[in-house]
Amino acid sequence: MARVALVTGGSRGIGAAIAKHLKAEGYSVAASFAGNEEAAAAFTEETGIPAYKWSVADYDECVEGIAKVEADLGPIEVLVNNAGITRDAPFHKMTREQWSEVMDTNLSGVFNMTHPLWNGMRERKFGRIINISSINGQKGQFAQANYSAAKAGDIGFTKALAQEGARAGITVNVICPGYVATDMVMAVPEKVRDSIIATIPVGRLGEPEDIARCVAFLASDDAGFVTGSTLTANGGQYMT
Ligand code: CAA
Repeated sequence: MARVALVTGGSRGIGAAIAKHLKAEGYSVAASFAGNEEAAAAFTEETGIPAYKWSVADYDECVEGIAKVEADLGPIEVLVNNAGITRDAPFHKMTREQWSEVMDTNLSGVFNMTHPLWNGMRERKFGRIINISSINGQKGQFAQANYSAAKAGDIGFTKALAQEGARAGITVNVICPGYVATDMVMAVPEKVRDSIIATIPVGRLGEPEDIARCVAFLASDDAGFVTGSTLTANGGQYMT
């Protein structure tokens, strides 16, 4: 039986590449999305991967959404916590809403998705949790006090939970992508973006598939001894 994988924020950008890659590797894949119905419909049409609408920022919606996916596909064995948003602003201009929206989605969202799945994975003695953090959770970023804090939180969450999952056959890892050519990065003003690319040793933005391949490895049986790790994929922009 194909393993079931759920990718949050899986209908666009890095998430869509992950979902497609896992499907190509034989997983039975579902994607969740929060808002963009048109993109989700086009994604499902193109890939045949079902997309379910709910907000990872809402615990009850996660419980309901997960139940629907499991009723359709079976128990979720691989969870990719990819959904994320930016609300960039220099701190002196950052509002409480900008802070909370980013924390609710990028950090609490990871709790909200992982918590309802945890006991099932423990009982079945198998699970793969793969959290998508960011280079900016490692190094910080001007105008991203909210995003950098949440993404750094994802790294700490991963390391704590990896210790709890280890004896139950559950691995928990985090990937820190650098700047990848997605809508999120393309929304950065061009001049700023060019100055960022100039600091990437490989001389280009990442491709979503660069990250999808990392996820596929961490999800695989080959990665059973890899847990609590932070996999950095940023073209050499920041080395930890
Ligand atoms: N370091 C130091 N100073 C900086 C700076 C930096 N990196 N970036 C901007 N500044 C300065 C500007 O030069 C400007 O200074 P002056 O006032 O002296 O001219 C000031 O900060 C910004 O002032 P503005 O009033 O123009 O700022 P704003 O309210 O319009 O905000 C911004 C602009 C949000 C900072 C915009 O420049 C921006 O979006 N920057 C990019 C932030 C970024 O990299 N976000 C990452 C998004 S991608 C992502 O998050 C995915 C991932 O995981 C990698």
